[in-house]
Amino acid sequence: MAAPRIAVIGAGLMGHGLAQVFALGGHEVTIYDAVDASLKTVKERISTNLRDLGDDPRAVERVRPTGDLKDCVREAHYVVEAVSEDLPLKQKLFAEIEAHVRADTILASNTSVIPITDIMGGLKRRERALGTHWWNPPYLVPLVEVIGTEWTSPATIDWTMELHSAVGKTPAHVKKDVPGFIGNRLQHALWREAIALVEHGICDAETVDTVIKAAFGRRLAVLGPLENADMVGTDLTLAIHKTVLPAIESRPGPSPYLDKLVKDGKLGFKSGEGFRTWTPAQQQALRARVLQHLKKARESDAATDDHPGRST
Ligand SMILES: NC(=O)c1ccc[n+]([C@@H]2O[C@H](COP(=O)([O-])OP(=O)(O)OC[C@H]3O[C@@H](n4cnc5c(N)ncnc54)[C@H](O)[C@@H]3O)[C@@H](O)[C@H]2O)c1
Repeated sequence: MAAPRIAVIGAGLMGHGLAQVFALGGHEVTIYDAVDASLKTVKERISTNLRDLGDDPRAVERVRPTGDLKDCVREAHYVVEAVSEDLPLKQKLFAEIEAHVRADTILASNTSVIPITDIMGGLKRRERALGTHWWNPPYLVPLVEVIGTEWTSPATIDWTMELHSAVGKTPAHVKKDVPGFIGNRLQHALWREAIALVEHGICDAETVDTVIKAAFGRRLAVLGPLENADMVGTDLTLAIHKTVLPAIESRPGPSPYLDKLVKDGKLGFKSGEGFRTWTPAQQQALRARVLQHLKKARESDAATDDHPGRST
């Protein structure tokens, strides 16, 4: 059977990367954007990435940009939306998309934080709608969280998980449509404590990051926290939690320290100062370091035929 046809809505940072992954996986991809400049540059951006990663440059030939939404989705088996993070915009687009697609086309949103229930609630056939949360850059970070709502059918989840596995991603099923899904809940639990350590004068921002990068951060890519808990013993984990959990940050809202940074215009890279100060050269160096690290991880996965998430 031919690979399912994919339609990507939004050709920005995430949308062009999603199109690239599906095209490289052998799918015919149509991509739509309301902004002409995004559409005009999308194939060139994908080509540049493919060359840079040493991937088959011919994959871009399977990508067809179009400025007509109906044309983009009409023949698709799967539509994934990656437009700006704006609920009314996403709701309006999905209502329009649903009017043009086949009866069995699966509809997905790549929203970062908006509940899938809110985006898809107005659809006529909600059982074929779900969330797929990719991470940036989509062609280097393996995870895709697959989020079902109370209406999503098990067949829709299974089909979407398989679609992403087949193009080399690591899909993870999120069984309830909760804010932050899984990845961002975990990530921001860590960030809350990281900010609290600085707020309470226990260390400075650079030290927080050094401690993570030079300690458990080294292991995290191959040893998840629950594997780690089993490794050291659940009894030891319980004993540690009895001492540590009452002492760590548990406030339900953002830190006043973070709030003040924002109020003072200390916005991080974009203003040159956030938790730390950043020259343009330092910003560029850090970005390059992250990209290099992700590329090496991908090469290492490919060399060992490994798949993140595989524990044995
Ligand atoms: N950037 C990330 O790290 C990241 C990670 C995961 C998920 N996401 C989510 O992915 C989605 C896209 O994010 P992004 O970073 O690619 O944003 P982006 O600003 O780079 O791209 C958004 C694209 O949507 C297009 N657009 C705006 N209105 C439109 C309309 N009415 N019809 C068609 N296209 C329209 C814009 O022209 C732009 O090309 C958002 O929901 C975001 O929250 C982002």
